[in-house]
Amino acid sequence: MGDREAVARSLARHIEGLAAWGIDRIHGIPVAPSPPGREAQSSRVETGDAEGLLAAIATEIAACTACTLCETRNHTVPGVGDSHAALLFVGEAPGRDEDLVGEPFVGQAGQLLDKIIGALGLRRDRVYITNILKCRPPRNRDPNPEEVASCTPFLERQISALRPRMIVALGRPAARYLTGIDAPLARLRGRDHDFHGTPLVVTYHPAYLLRNPAAKAKCWQDLQAVVRVFGNGPPE
Ligand code: URA
Repeated sequence: MGDREAVARSLARHIEGLAAWGIDRIHGIPVAPSPPGREAQSSRVETGDAEGLLAAIATEIAACTACTLCETRNHTVPGVGDSHAALLFVGEAPGRDEDLVGEPFVGQAGQLLDKIIGALGLRRDRVYITNILKCRPPRNRDPNPEEVASCTPFLERQISALRPRMIVALGRPAARYLTGIDAPLARLRGRDHDFHGTPLVVTYHPAYLLRNPAAKAKCWQDLQAVVRVFGNGPPE
């Protein structure tokens, strides 16, 4: 794929992301003219049931060739959980285990995340879990800006479909994207944030907690914001 085509695709995905939030104008200027046949697709994305929307997004992710990660992936990893979940966890990118299975957070970091979710009085199948990137970066390197730009419209559409009550950003890449603030994690946690009006909590990535168990107490401190909203059990 040529550079121009990649940029055009990335732009089209951003416009879809904005449309999923009901934003078709910025400062009164239309973000893009609707190409023929496009109107029907955007209204399908905005009005369907969450389960159907998430499944449709997962199908698009499975066919995505917007960046080079499609060349090395075994599976795309769209997300997992309850399509009616009120709590959404967003991590960084699939690792080796996740790439082999097609499900986020199934490796060691995932086991710790399950424990964290359990400590909140919730269950993995009652929340929704996804990542900034839907394909594994080779050797688990950090996502690069182009990959984030081409993949995050999927995340924005997932959030729009789910309409969670609260979002938890796990680690710096998720925190940086969702807050829009390019700062170290230490400066982002412990502060009130929101993502387009949805309360957003920033905390450590479980993989960091595995390497630095002493930070677990600070993570638990961050998650008190979740406890305050969800009490000690899943919202009905
Ligand atoms: N780390 C992440 O950020 N996401 C996963 O799915 C697994 C590990």
